[in-house]
Amino acid sequence: MKESPFEGFSRLTFKERHEILKDFCGLSQADLKTLTEILDPHLAEQFVENVIGFYSLPLAIAPHFKIDGKNVLVPMAIEETSVVAAVSKAAKLIQKNGGFHTQILGSLSVGQIQFPIVFEIEKFEKDILNNKGTLINQANQLVPRLTERGGGVQDIKIRKLKRPDQKWMGVLHILCDTCDAMGANTINQICEFLKPLLEEVTGSQGGLCILSNLTDSRLVEARCTIQNLDESLALHIEEATLFANLDPYRGTTHNKGIMNGIDAVLIATGNDWRAVEAGAHAYASLKGHYQSLSSWVYKNKELQGTLQVPLQLGIVGGVTQIHPTAKLALRIMGIREAHELARICASVGLAQNFAALRALCQEGISHGHMKLHASNLALAAGATKQELPMVQTELQKHKHKTIGMAQKILDDIRRGKQNL
Ligand code: HMG
Repeated sequence: MKESPFEGFSRLTFKERHEILKDFCGLSQADLKTLTEILDPHLAEQFVENVIGFYSLPLAIAPHFKIDGKNVLVPMAIEETSVVAAVSKAAKLIQKNGGFHTQILGSLSVGQIQFPIVFEIEKFEKDILNNKGTLINQANQLVPRLTERGGGVQDIKIRKLKRPDQKWMGVLHILCDTCDAMGANTINQICEFLKPLLEEVTGSQGGLCILSNLTDSRLVEARCTIQNLDESLALHIEEATLFANLDPYRGTTHNKGIMNGIDAVLIATGNDWRAVEAGAHAYASLKGHYQSLSSWVYKNKELQGTLQVPLQLGIVGGVTQIHPTAKLALRIMGIREAHELARICASVGLAQNFAALRALCQEGISHGHMKLHASNLALAAGATKQELPMVQTELQKHKHKTIGMAQKILDDIRRGKQNL
């Protein structure tokens, strides 16, 4: 029985992969052309200032993902070797074990309105609580399309921070559901609208208004369970998580591995991956000590993996709607709502984490990297499946591997010049 509907995907040609995108994702020939066309620099002028051209990244597919029972091909935009292969290999194993299961643990983004010095903090709090309902309604009048879809400002929370001069700073959190938008602009505008109203209600002078990227009220969880894993490997992976929790030096790299996967999907879909990176690493330190975003526990002969991560992302507005490749990436994943993208990102992050820990606990990370590097060069030189191992073996003998070297080895093999 095929482990995955995309068994052997990694050995397909570029054209064969495109055929799968047509058959499985319903892309047209014109869509496929978009994937390999250089974009019009004038389009870039819609995104940023002082444009001189485009910077292209490889766009790959990680097959074998089964998420909440659905097979998904995941587009990843990334320049780093072995991440896509690693994620794919992990997804393939996890698919055999039932795939990933996800849940949304909150969908509220955070806007902050700061009151630098509050002289009567109790009165400040009481004034706001007495007017909270009115303030929320007034704010929601700004975003009728959001409230029609069940979104908008849902709550206002007050945080009191003691300043070094022993005075109080008041910080309001405007909790807003931005539905399928990442929501930065909406939230910032709501905060700027509410600030003068709050100054009037409280008599205190407002300060900064800005969204927070620490969106711990917009969390996603991905889980997987792997049976029949070698017990010593499972215990080593559990131990690796303890290391990441105890030691921020390890925890940072552990989480960077997770974000290798998540960022690549965010970049492919035109999302602000920097906002998510900032939030994820801040969330990892919320307990006062920087820790792993994931946990791996070996129980009853099963390795259970869990990842909880804040994901402030969108599928409407911003670049996602005007960058043709970002729009295609959403179509490849069959995404219609932002939470679906969040679920996929969390699953890819957990897959990447498993792949990295498995390699670190067994052969080490370089083995896969260098092996892949050699095979990528051999493939790029045009080696067939039969020639691949011969070219790779020869390439392994060279410290610095180049495409020219791979080509020369391949030519020699084909001319029968080298008895290998
Ligand atoms: P392998 O055993 O040679 O793979 O692993 P395989 O030949 O058994 O193939 C199994 C599946 O792996 C394939 O199935 C692919 O899905 C995938 P198929 O699609 O063919 O049915 N696969 C590939 N996909 C695309 N191109 C390829 C390819 N080869 C296998 N060429 C592999 C090779 C590199 C996957 C393995 O050695 C591995 O997972 N190594 C770990 C490398 C890794 O984790 N890299 C991530 C970047 S480093 C990082 O995350 C930062 C870090 O610091 C994080 C941390 O510290 O925690 C490490």
